[in-house]
Amino acid sequence: LRQVLFKDPNRPPVVFHWIPVFGSAASYGMDPYKFFEDNRKKFGDVFTFVMLGRSITVALGPRGNDFVLNAKHSDVSAEEAYAHLTTPVFGKGVIYDCPNARLMEQKKFAKSALTTVAFRHYVPMIVNEVRQYWLKSPQFFGGDADRASNKTHLMTAMPEMTIFTASRTLQGREVRAKFDESFADLYHDLDRGFTPIHFVFPNIPIPATFNRDKAHKKISDTYMEVIQERRRTGDLSDPDLLNTFMREAIYKDGIRMTDREIANMMIGILMGGQHTSAATSTWALMHIGADKTLRDALYQEQVDVCGTELRELTYDDLVNMPLLNNTIRETLRMHPPLHSLMRFVRHDLTIDGTKYVVPRGHYVLAAPGVPMIDSQYFKNPSKYDPARWFEQKNIIDMNARDQDYTIVSKGARSPYLPFGAGRHRCIGEQFAYVQLGTILSMFIRQFEWTLPEGRSVPPPDYSSMVTLPAEPSEIVWTRRRVDEKKI
Ligand code: HEM
Repeated sequence: LRQVLFKDPNRPPVVFHWIPVFGSAASYGMDPYKFFEDNRKKFGDVFTFVMLGRSITVALGPRGNDFVLNAKHSDVSAEEAYAHLTTPVFGKGVIYDCPNARLMEQKKFAKSALTTVAFRHYVPMIVNEVRQYWLKSPQFFGGDADRASNKTHLMTAMPEMTIFTASRTLQGREVRAKFDESFADLYHDLDRGFTPIHFVFPNIPIPATFNRDKAHKKISDTYMEVIQERRRTGDLSDPDLLNTFMREAIYKDGIRMTDREIANMMIGILMGGQHTSAATSTWALMHIGADKTLRDALYQEQVDVCGTELRELTYDDLVNMPLLNNTIRETLRMHPPLHSLMRFVRHDLTIDGTKYVVPRGHYVLAAPGVPMIDSQYFKNPSKYDPARWFEQKNIIDMNARDQDYTIVSKGARSPYLPFGAGRHRCIGEQFAYVQLGTILSMFIRQFEWTLPEGRSVPPPDYSSMVTLPAEPSEIVWTRRRVDEKKI
């Protein structure tokens, strides 16, 4: 009743809910896209909902993306929206547990390890990791290099392949080796403390929370030991992220990042790329498995670029594989891992082009995935079609609609933003393309795979921090080049 009687005309419309405080948590949490779409039909692009005591104003569409993601830091903050979840996982002094200006510099340090020169080193490392993984993992050859076929559970295999390849490239050989010991279990514990429940109740007294805190300490301490050992030997020549931070992480005011902060940064960066890339590779493999024409075309592209002998993949080869890259691009269009990007409102904020004011203390939310599946911007949006990216005509011409944004824009006013925009934009995009492109190329060369008989690509499951395919996320593969027995 209060919602109806005391409606302030300058406030965005509020989504009706029966249970105070709890609000729309259930309908938003179960299927955020349906929730956004239902309410957009009722209210338009801007509306407010209540979730567990928070008032969250959603701003949809390219303009909404721009409003939230390009808002001034003096008006909105990501740290006040995310720190309660991330600080226990990443640790102190980094990412959202420091002033925003520090985060901007931390991202700059990280970027200097994510260069073409580094990527040229990384591709052979990823190739090698994938091979070793296939040989050992029961999901693939399981120690039997002659195995000709198998069923693979992707949500087991892809997170492992992602963390092994990311740790080997970004953090170096000795860190990677620790994943063969206890590190994998510790990261697993960290993961189980990085859930929607912890977003709402960061310190909920359940075993997952205690294990998260123990795991964080052990992982951070281990990175500290690695840092100290590297400093002892004095060899900081590898192009990995850890060395880059050890060499270069001095803020503009002359203060150096401490070893503890560098250790925590390693956790933050690995976690930032882990779920997002594991989810994306899983979705891509499922879609490719469901489409023989695409699979054949991707294989042909490998042959065209690397010859019938399929010589070892390099970074430069990846750059010359447009279909592969468009497959990743299309996967991220339909399945962006992050459905909601949030900011805390620090000062009353007027939404451009509307009469609405979002008051201080509320949150604003951008949902970049909404325009990515909107027929206003993408023809036939529910069709998975990597080829659409070759043909501008398949994508509604942005310039015809609005002079100042283009489809794949660096700005925030774009309908295609799987990596966000503005000051919090992802720094891992290029690395993600390298990692995903290499892993997918390896699959395309080695296997012919499909979804199990009678299955199609599963619907999304929104119950974890990233959008995953609902179980069972399985593929069935046979070896492409049985004659060669070469893995
Ligand atoms: C930020 C998506 C991979 C590190 C972001 C944001 C998005 C995103 C949407 C913006 C968050 C916001 O505005 O609230 C993705 C996707 C990935 C991916 C879809 C893979 C497919 C990676 C990788 C790394 C990484 C591989 C590290 C190497 C970061 C960092 C930020 C970020 C450090 C900045 C956070 C901030 O400034 O607040 N990512 N990411 N991401 N991502 Fe990624």
